[in-house]
Amino acid sequence: MARINDNYLRLKSGYLFSEIARRIKEFQAAHPDAKLIRLGIGDATRPLPGAIVQALHAAVDEMGRAETFRGYGPETGYEFLTELIAKHDYGARGVTIAPDEIFVSDGSKSDAANFQELFSADAIVALTDPVYPVYLDSNVMAGRAGAPDSRGAYDRIVYLPCTAENGFDPPLPDGPVDMVYLCFPNNPTGAVLGRAALKRWVDWARSAGAVLLYDAAYEAYIQDPDVPHSIFEVEGARQVAVEFRSYSKTAGFTGTRCAYTVVPRDVTARASTGEAVPLHGLWFRRQSTKFNGAPYLIQRGASAIYTPEGQKQARTTIEYYMHNARVIRDGLETAGLTVYGGRNAPYIWLKTPAGLDSWGFFDKLLNEAHVVGTPGAGFGRYGEGYFRLTGFGDRAATEEAVARIKSRLKR
Ligand code: MLT
Repeated sequence: MARINDNYLRLKSGYLFSEIARRIKEFQAAHPDAKLIRLGIGDATRPLPGAIVQALHAAVDEMGRAETFRGYGPETGYEFLTELIAKHDYGARGVTIAPDEIFVSDGSKSDAANFQELFSADAIVALTDPVYPVYLDSNVMAGRAGAPDSRGAYDRIVYLPCTAENGFDPPLPDGPVDMVYLCFPNNPTGAVLGRAALKRWVDWARSAGAVLLYDAAYEAYIQDPDVPHSIFEVEGARQVAVEFRSYSKTAGFTGTRCAYTVVPRDVTARASTGEAVPLHGLWFRRQSTKFNGAPYLIQRGASAIYTPEGQKQARTTIEYYMHNARVIRDGLETAGLTVYGGRNAPYIWLKTPAGLDSWGFFDKLLNEAHVVGTPGAGFGRYGEGYFRLTGFGDRAATEEAVARIKSRLKR
């Protein structure tokens, strides 16, 4: 009989959002008339900006004509898009990134999950806890995490607790580490790191010989002008960091799928011979072997984000979601809950009421208020006792959800 990759057996039983979807389905089967409000998964609900829709239509027409039809594109993205990214997302913030250091893809989830392939099978991984589950699970699948204990903590992972007590600011690892996943603005806590905190990480990575895998998928939600949008705004980051960026939350691309990863030519890691090898060449090799590029149509759509209308329309949507975040935060604070995040991020991270753990609160909200959120424990041990709601819902539904939660908490 063929043999499986045993590491898959070390994963938690289901991917967090699939598990939530399963519970919702079960609930709906038992309560077909309940009007559920979903503030669980961070999925866009507003339509694509008009400028993007127009660009998509035009690109479809191009594909339908012999003179403008395109087959395989460059695996790492069309220059018309990478040049816009280099200019608008980096140049405008005083950061020099060359277009060929940008690798366009079909999503940051896959990039963040795949990037670990470049590191040695026994590399040591550090993660914040709570954490976006993809960073951990992809390393479990690769066999790098070791075995889970009875509480689900893997013995080869270095966990960096982020709790209210430390302001959700992860401590530096206190032992040897090869790679660290950082996500700011943070999913799930909504916390951000200022320039000094990011500098501390870059300086640490330089002295420790580690690589920072920096997920900036939510940078468009930063409101505070002093908070960096990119790790590359910090001096020295080019030598030690790669950055994941996504159009999912920036321009409603959760279903349309387009993202990019920046791998500066200067960032290196060590071969077993001791030689410093640029990750840029390895990622190019990996992508050109396993990926054929994001679709032309989609990259045309993404490039419309950088037009003045596209920028304005995308901003309007972000403001809409951030207004929802404010509605949730203010409403729940009024109801007496302790609430974090929601100021520079679309996520609200709250402490569960006394006597309820995070799945207990999930069940209470689902059964009594018909509101779906995400239990903090699903993001890690240090997420226990917390709960996540998102600003990505419809406005009226968000207001209704807050009213329902408030009324349930009063009882
Ligand atoms: C979330 O809810 O955490 C996000 O939707 C996850 C993702 O972007 O894949």
